[in-house]
Amino acid sequence: MLLPNKVPVWLSAFTLLLLTQEPVSTTEVVACGEAVDPPANIEMTDSGFLGYLSIHWTRPASLQNLTGCTVRYQLRYYDTYEERWRSVRTVKLTYAAQFDLEKPVMVRMLTVLKCACTNGTEVQGEETERVFTPEPTGVAGSKIRDFHCIYYGKEYMECTWDSGPVQPPNSQHYLYYWHREMTETQECPEYIILSEVRRGCRIPRKSLLEFSKFNMCVNGSSPAGSLRTAYFSIEVQNHVKPAVVSSVHISEIDGLLKLDWSPPSGLVPEHCLEYEIERSTLMANDKEQQQRKVLENVVLDTSYDIRREAESKKTCFQVRSKVNMYCADGGFWSDWSQTQCTEEKETLNNLRLVGLVVIGIAGVIILCLSLWILKKICIKKSSKKDALYTLYKQKVNETMPTILSPIFK
Ligand SMILES: *[C@@H]1O[C@H](CO)[C@@H](O)[C@H](O)[C@H]1NC(C)=O
Ligand SMILES: *[C@@H]1O[C@H](CO)[C@@H](O)[C@H](O)[C@H]1NC(C)=O
Ligand SMILES: *[C@@H]1O[C@H](CO)[C@@H](O)[C@H](O)[C@H]1NC(C)=O
Repeated sequence: MLLPNKVPVWLSAFTLLLLTQEPVSTTEVVACGEAVDPPANIEMTDSGFLGYLSIHWTRPASLQNLTGCTVRYQLRYYDTYEERWRSVRTVKLTYAAQFDLEKPVMVRMLTVLKCACTNGTEVQGEETERVFTPEPTGVAGSKIRDFHCIYYGKEYMECTWDSGPVQPPNSQHYLYYWHREMTETQECPEYIILSEVRRGCRIPRKSLLEFSKFNMCVNGSSPAGSLRTAYFSIEVQNHVKPAVVSSVHISEIDGLLKLDWSPPSGLVPEHCLEYEIERSTLMANDKEQQQRKVLENVVLDTSYDIRREAESKKTCFQVRSKVNMYCADGGFWSDWSQTQCTEEKETLNNLRLVGLVVIGIAGVIILCLSLWILKKICIKKSSKKDALYTLYKQKVNETMPTILSPIFK
């Protein structure tokens, strides 16, 4: 339970303005003779947890004396991070949720009644809306920009920013953070300083909490007044960037390229990593082909086999890693590992060309040879035949009567 006396003094400068108080619907709902009014005295308490606000209310006066009923409250609030309404039902008189203190805080509430006199059916009362608008304080335009957080190898997180468009001289930035296991906000333990100006903060692993809102604010002071505060709420497990994949190794056996590597150093569990491989192939015609492949294996595997492209001279690989979908909803790719290449090779294409030429020459030689042999045989045969014929003709002419001679011409 958040106690109002725990509210830090600085909060007095930060006011929650009550804007509207009209009910959303105007028809009065009556159950068991009583008006089912929305809860009364809806208020918000900011305990200085950078947007984690506590909403509390009381039972409506009309239902104060009602017995034999369960009274529940339906609370809807606008989630400014996801840009949608969220809904909860509770019998309690308080609820805490995360809000963006740079935007209006919108809450809608109604009472839900279930009594013996309503025959056990649920009666929903009318809904009322509250909008609390945080008053921005500080020099206008001095709010920081481009806030980014990267959780390096789950070892430490770095959040960096740029100063706002209006930067009063001699201003100093501060980062504060909070998560649900802390009793109060803490200031950044180690600022990142660039050209003597605070540009970021490094937070060690022990100060972070995963799978929970991690709230931060960057405010500042200057001789011209305080700087406008910027608020952020993240889940740190979605901001992990693994270290570079090391010891990438390639071996080749019978045209099969086998790539293997070691998981990156750091504290990301191995089963939480996925890898992407970039392959650049130098082809026989000296053109380069690039392909990328994400290995979404569930099995822990830090190797990859691929057949060498027939027309390739050289193949190079790079590997990078990221936290997979089983361990977080988001994350950053690591930097690429060093490039590893296969030995440059005489390509198959060249070998084939040489082969073709050799076969071609051999073919021509064989053809010539066979033509020559054929010719030789033909000449021999015909000359033999001619000689025989002449001899035969002579003989015939000598012995045959002249009448028959035309047959043997
Ligand atoms: C509830 O009961 C108290 C005392 O018994 C009485 O004073 C009060 O008026 C009642 N409230 C309603 C809404 O009937
Ligand atoms: C209450 O429920 C009973 C049985 O479920 C039904 O017969 C009766 O009509 C209901 N009464 C009202 C007022 O709804
Ligand atoms: C910045 O915010 C922190 C945490 O809410 C607060 O304690 C501190 O006083 C603020 N500093 C300035 C200069 O506004």
